[in-house]
Amino acid sequence: MNVHIFRIMVTSLIDPFNRRIEYLRVSVTDRCELRCTYCIPKGFTGFEEPAHWLSFDEMERVVRVFTELGVRRVRLTGGEPLARRGLPELAARLAQLPGLDDLSLSTNGTRLRKLAQSLRRAGITRLNVSLDSLDPARYAEITGGGRLDQVLDGLAAAKKAGFAPVKINMVAMKGVNDREISDMVDFCIRHDFTLRLIETMPMGATGREAAEHYLDLQEVRRELQSRYELIPTVMTGGGPARYVQVGGTGLRIGFITPISQHFCATCNRVRLTVDGTIYTCLGQENNLELRPLLRSGASDEELREAVCRAIALKPERHEFTTQPHKIIRFMSATGG
Ligand code: 5AD
Ligand code: SF4
Repeated sequence: MNVHIFRIMVTSLIDPFNRRIEYLRVSVTDRCELRCTYCIPKGFTGFEEPAHWLSFDEMERVVRVFTELGVRRVRLTGGEPLARRGLPELAARLAQLPGLDDLSLSTNGTRLRKLAQSLRRAGITRLNVSLDSLDPARYAEITGGGRLDQVLDGLAAAKKAGFAPVKINMVAMKGVNDREISDMVDFCIRHDFTLRLIETMPMGATGREAAEHYLDLQEVRRELQSRYELIPTVMTGGGPARYVQVGGTGLRIGFITPISQHFCATCNRVRLTVDGTIYTCLGQENNLELRPLLRSGASDEELREAVCRAIALKPERHEFTTQPHKIIRFMSATGG
């Protein structure tokens, strides 16, 4: 009887707003060699010390605890996740956890040429690559010196390794890359990539500066509609993007509109930072630190209880529009 009750109680995580949490985003490093204008401040070097970082053993344990509580999907992010040494090994370990159906990765793509194959072999099924411009100079400007050719090589390697679909994340910014959206559409049609357009979020000082270039994606959608037939569609992944199929092509475009049309009511995710803190909302501070528990010999049961306590703290929604100065941490701390 007890066992029965226990099983019912622990196999799903429901937050105070009746949302089922089944998706965990794990930031495996807050570091990144790029300095995207909307993400990390120029010249920033004050990253966390590795002593605070969870080891792969600790990460595997935390993810296992989450899967025991009903989490089915995990995405590895950063910072730049491929900047963490040995990441394919962590991926392989997580992919084997019972109950985990979907392991994906978000990357800036600069190291994919070398790593795509081993990531695929490790069991990562889906890949999102950040790419805001196809113009080498503009790409360098946006990313603080990044090299476009590395990312293009990385994308080619990802395709060759069998990732399908490969999704391109493009943060749409007025006066920066908005004129390139149609080029990106053509590029994605040509290469059979899925395009995801993202509104800038005021995360940290960098995000707030970028928000000056905020572009309402509803406008972009109307503009695209005048040129293409856009047929609403769904895509596996169950994230917040609203997808359309572009008529007469194989292209799907996703619109991620945290500002113009927020999607908090259906939010199904929480985040784990590299130092072992659970953040229950990208746009709020509500968090719970697991590291002290992990490093003081807590049992799995105690960890499960802590995770449940964290989920009970999940706020209803972000306040990016009403309180744009609220979030001080920048995006690379919690992963986009
Ligand atoms: N607003 C929106 N997206 C952001 N990202 C980083 N910073 C921001 C921001 N301020 C996202 C981008 C990038 C991913 C790593 O994080 O999509 O591709
Ligand atoms: Fe690095 Fe991604 Fe942040 Fe750009 S957006 S600096 S690629 S973590």
